[in-house]
Amino acid sequence: MNGTATASAAPLMQVEGLSVSYGKVEAVRGIDLTLRTGEITTLVGANGAGKSTTLLALSGLVKKAGGRVLFDGQDLTRMAPHRIVAKGVVQVAEGRATLTTLTVRENLELGAYTQRDRSTRAAGLERVFQLFPVLKDRADGLAGNLSGGEQQMLAIGRALMARPRLLLLDEPSMGLAPIIVQDIFRTLREINRGGLTIFLVEQNVRQALKIAHRAYVLETGRIVLQGAARDLLNDPQVQAAYLGG
Ligand SMILES: Nc1ncnc2c1ncn2[C@@H]1O[C@H](COP(=O)(O)OP(=O)(O)OP(=O)(O)O)[C@@H](O)[C@H]1O
Ligand SMILES: [Mg+2]
Repeated sequence: MNGTATASAAPLMQVEGLSVSYGKVEAVRGIDLTLRTGEITTLVGANGAGKSTTLLALSGLVKKAGGRVLFDGQDLTRMAPHRIVAKGVVQVAEGRATLTTLTVRENLELGAYTQRDRSTRAAGLERVFQLFPVLKDRADGLAGNLSGGEQQMLAIGRALMARPRLLLLDEPSMGLAPIIVQDIFRTLREINRGGLTIFLVEQNVRQALKIAHRAYVLETGRIVLQGAARDLLNDPQVQAAYLGG
């Protein structure tokens, strides 16, 4: 099911020597990542490995202790979060974080705050409804009444409304039944086929490796393995450590 990594795809984001510390805790310890245009890259690892911290650093939401982040040739290292979003690097909020007292449609419209053009926003909404028909059915209902899976779809839809060039996702599978996870991952794959570059952080290593082109394995803040996702899926070391043998 996973795609063939294309060696020729140009890097869209390059991360060099990224480090993040919380006081004395070195959460991310000098990692290098290359996210290639048009690919799904996944960063997998156990609880506390530093996955969320890495994403927060790319979005400018935590302070970097060291390293550089280059996006399409521009240096984002010290850029403010709202400017990073405006450049097209959009993170799906962790834990869904939908605004439960607003409707589904209002949540989606909030995601389009960077888009001034009305017809662009309308086209974005149509695209999200096409990807997630359930959101269309529930458009005028409160987001708080959606199921966990539907809220995750809404969180992804809201990020898409900002017209990202790079979509960052933090464990979209968290707390969801396997069948819902498959559904969401299938849609991520569809979004990627439409040309969007995706960086997917996951603890669900098997599913993530199945949809990704390339993968990095993070352990206590360091990259310990990297390669084509398909190769990692078949790697005995990965199987023993992350796929239950
Ligand atoms: N705000 C914080 N203050 C202090 N330490 C933190 C903070 N956030 C995370 N940490 C620590 O940094 C390390 C990396 O945490 P992070 O949340 O990035 O891991 P993760 O890979 O996303 O884990 P999970 O799979 O549980 O979400 C952990 O040791 C964690 O306890
Ligand atoms: Mg996390």
